[in-house]
Amino acid sequence: MSKDTLQANMRSALKWAGGKKRVIGEILKVLPTQGKKRLIEPFVGGGSVFLNIDFDEYLLVDMNQDLIALFNIIKNQSDEFIFDAEHYFRGHNNTPEKYYDLRKKFNASTDSYERSLLFLYLNRHGYNGLCRYNKSGGYNVPFGRYKHPYFPKVELEFFAKRAQRAIFLQGDFETAFDQISNNDVVYCDPPYSPINRTSNFTAYAGNSFSDADQQRLVECAEKAKANNVPTVISNHYVDFTRELYKNATKRELFQVQRTISPKGKGRVKVKEILALYK
Ligand SMILES: C[S@@+](CC[C@H](N)C(=O)[O-])C[C@H]1O[C@@H](n2cnc3c(N)ncnc32)[C@H](O)[C@@H]1O
Repeated sequence: MSKDTLQANMRSALKWAGGKKRVIGEILKVLPTQGKKRLIEPFVGGGSVFLNIDFDEYLLVDMNQDLIALFNIIKNQSDEFIFDAEHYFRGHNNTPEKYYDLRKKFNASTDSYERSLLFLYLNRHGYNGLCRYNKSGGYNVPFGRYKHPYFPKVELEFFAKRAQRAIFLQGDFETAFDQISNNDVVYCDPPYSPINRTSNFTAYAGNSFSDADQQRLVECAEKAKANNVPTVISNHYVDFTRELYKNATKRELFQVQRTISPKGKGRVKVKEILALYK
């Protein structure tokens, strides 16, 4: 597989914290793709890496149940889903009253098709593209006040097509590592280790990702390496991760422009690390 042909330049249908679309080029410099058939992503998130790097097969895992249910529905019922989803993007649904009504409906629903339609609506109409749940699992992101929320038709169609080569599983990242075999390569984009220890970037999927989880991930990468399966891990470059990845085979640092203030206003340059275990 030649690296020139790997990139598709496709956005995710979802707004998702930590999306990697802008740094695909950096990832490709480190990710061993030669002779590899399957990409495994234990933290698939919005799927920008899956969408932009071409493999024969994919195994895509995430802890977030709503996200994985949505991906499976886009994969299996794409035409019907895209048709029905567009309805929610008509102007009359873009008011706080309607948003809170639909959020209530989402939280009360147990039907995975209906929940997926509403999840996409909430993702594109909610505040700052956040995905946040309260302690009892209720989605609690406030209204976003966007003038014209974008209906990601092209992105959904592209996703549906590529998803035919993918398996989506809900679970902890170890679920993904449990299934590795020859010809796999693993790319991990865990919730970021915080830049300063008071910030709260790590609260995804209603649970937070601890230092012990970051350590557990390195142990999985080491085990995969022992089985000749290479793993790349992304993170912020901070004291904790410098120490955490000190035994990696290779480490690449680069800078990204990222919106990190909670109000979405401040843009700062943040250093990131890619650690390769192979
Ligand atoms: C930084 S995001 C991934 C972003 C993605 N690469 C993209 O480009 O859009 C991290 C993801 O990890 C998921 N997550 C959190 N804890 C997890 C765990 N223990 N196992 C698997 N996924 C987890 C979150 O739901 C979130 O989608």
